[in-house]
Amino acid sequence: MALSLYHHSILLSCFLLLKTGVHVESKRVPAIIVFGDSTVDAGNNNPLPTISKSNFAPYGRDLEGGKATGRFSNGRIATDFISEAFGNKPLVPAYLDSSYGIEDFATGVTFASAGTGFDNKTAAVTSVIPLWKEVEYFKDYKTRLATLLGRKAAAETIRDAVYIISIGTNDFAINYFALPDRSLHFTLEEYENFLIGIANNFMVELYRLGARKISLGGLPPIGCLPIIRTLDPGHACIEEFNTLARKFDLKLKSLAAKLRGELQGSKVVFSNIYYQAMDVIQKPSLYGFENVKNGCCGSGRFEVSYLCHRSNPLTCKDASKYAFWDSVHPSEKLHFIVANNMMKTSLAEFV
Ligand SMILES: *[C@@H]1O[C@H](CO)[C@@H](O)[C@H](O)[C@H]1NC(C)=O
Repeated sequence: MALSLYHHSILLSCFLLLKTGVHVESKRVPAIIVFGDSTVDAGNNNPLPTISKSNFAPYGRDLEGGKATGRFSNGRIATDFISEAFGNKPLVPAYLDSSYGIEDFATGVTFASAGTGFDNKTAAVTSVIPLWKEVEYFKDYKTRLATLLGRKAAAETIRDAVYIISIGTNDFAINYFALPDRSLHFTLEEYENFLIGIANNFMVELYRLGARKISLGGLPPIGCLPIIRTLDPGHACIEEFNTLARKFDLKLKSLAAKLRGELQGSKVVFSNIYYQAMDVIQKPSLYGFENVKNGCCGSGRFEVSYLCHRSNPLTCKDASKYAFWDSVHPSEKLHFIVANNMMKTSLAEFV
């Protein structure tokens, strides 16, 4: 009897799986709301005078219509897959993309800006949107949402939405280690704690504005980004940067746990992406990758933003064989793997 019930439930699960595919049907998450940098930007930098852009070919070549939206990838990015996994739309639009309106943003929106960081001075390096300004846009969004849906329904959307935060790499890669200012005034440890303080205030502010389900994303294995590998003669990962990422991740993880305890009714989680990305880099064939050291675009060693352009004859034919699309950013396939892992781990409780 027990056995047949067991079989019955396996059959039932198989049936449900067939019916719903990889999607998780859910009514509890009306929107995905995103803050951060190029890992989760979908075109907010397009109208800005900055070099941190990707709204030109070959970016987006594997999106429907081959459209370069401002996503730093050949196709969709992790937050698009996460939105879809929650039963929502397959693309999370950028708040500053004028081809979308508040009706679109009501079910998901990204305020992220490529090149930005926790630190105001990081955004200033390439004249992009600082994190505090992303929050200002979110406040504007809340006002428009209330006009669209009515105050009560808008407040429910804000409360039930899942907030995805992905930011921090640039504070180290294009600020602390690249420019003298912060490194003259802060030891690395002090700078990390300075960033954690900003992250703390930022999340308390989101909570105050109505957010409850918040995912604070960790850093990737920075030392294995193709552009960082160029620092090593044999193109090995630079362990110093990976150690930094793991160490900072521990601080972000503690911060998430602390805030979850302090902010009543909140569900703050830490999303570790480091170990999933590292598994891909260490066992590429397990995931169907042929190259995890170079980006698909151009030589794959230096090309990012304007250096990744359509006429480069070296650009690979099939980006799904590459973990990285350009010298800094994941291919659509790695974005999918990371999103899928988050759905099974940190985001599982929001399903
Ligand atoms: C960043 O800039 C904003 C706007 O000027 C300011 O309100 C905020 O205090 C700054 N953050 C830090 C940590 O200096």
